[in-house]
Amino acid sequence: MEIPKLLNTEISDVAATSLLTLYCHALESQSKDTILDDPLAVEITDKLNPELSQSDNKFYQSLAKGKVEKKLVVHIAMRAKRYDDYVRNFLERSHHGIVVNIGCGLDPRFHRIDNGKVIFYDLDFPEVIAVKKKLLPETDRYRFIPSSVLNYEWMEAITQLNPDSLLFLAEGVLMYLQEEEVKSLVLKLQSTFPGCELIAEFFKAAWLKQPLQGIMNRKLQRDLHLGNDATFKFGIRDSKDLEGWNPGIEFLDDWFYLDEPENKLGLLRVLKDIPFFRKIQWTARYKLN
Ligand SMILES: C[S@@+](CC[C@H](N)C(=O)[O-])C[C@H]1O[C@@H](n2cnc3c(N)ncnc32)[C@H](O)[C@@H]1O
Repeated sequence: MEIPKLLNTEISDVAATSLLTLYCHALESQSKDTILDDPLAVEITDKLNPELSQSDNKFYQSLAKGKVEKKLVVHIAMRAKRYDDYVRNFLERSHHGIVVNIGCGLDPRFHRIDNGKVIFYDLDFPEVIAVKKKLLPETDRYRFIPSSVLNYEWMEAITQLNPDSLLFLAEGVLMYLQEEEVKSLVLKLQSTFPGCELIAEFFKAAWLKQPLQGIMNRKLQRDLHLGNDATFKFGIRDSKDLEGWNPGIEFLDDWFYLDEPENKLGLLRVLKDIPFFRKIQWTARYKLN
């Protein structure tokens, strides 16, 4: 199959998922009683639309037409808002806070949360950062790291700053990695940046087994038209699982989007009382001591 291009850059199936979240942010921003107000996401999608609509890639075409399932748009916008709030809260607690957004995609989060002081790193595959650079300028405080998160050399740039408070975000990313990769990454963050905070989204391990996995893959590939490599590979049973990976990994709290009193969730809110549905994909916060 032909590798899709974006602004003349070839991007992989996993990297292309960054378009889905960006379009969800833009679509929600333009809706009534918006959950997430992100004019920059709208501006970026306006720039990408002509290229996506002319592509013969079905996923690109449906994005350009704004055809994304409403409940997915709401979920992704709620998630982005929640992560923005996590960052704001971290910045209020720290005077010289540094944030690293792992698997940032095309999300312009820095511009939503900038407090005039934060140093904010956007990390993603070189191809995603190449596209992002054409859309958003780097500055002294908004920096790009074009690297796989698994190539640990990227950590050197952060170590050199000798940060006293550091927050790592991994929103919608870890599920695309293998379990050994996630474990190794978390342990490497812990040993390199003791005392840092990690906020990451997790997928329920039970959904990685058949028949649930089949349902999930059909959703990703047939309904959303994502490429074949954009599949979930990593999951956990419970937020506390990570504490068993190494002493010093401390679970702080977690967040389930169905628990939010958000009217746009509609009938989905009924599912919050059924643990099996409430906990398919959720976010947890850790201190890595
Ligand atoms: C679903 S998108 C989420 C983007 C963004 N965090 C958001 O929520 O809008 C997943 C992102 O993870 C990135 N990603 C996946 N594996 C990665 C890796 N090994 N290193 C760096 N980025 C990765 C992809 O390129 C993609 O941009």
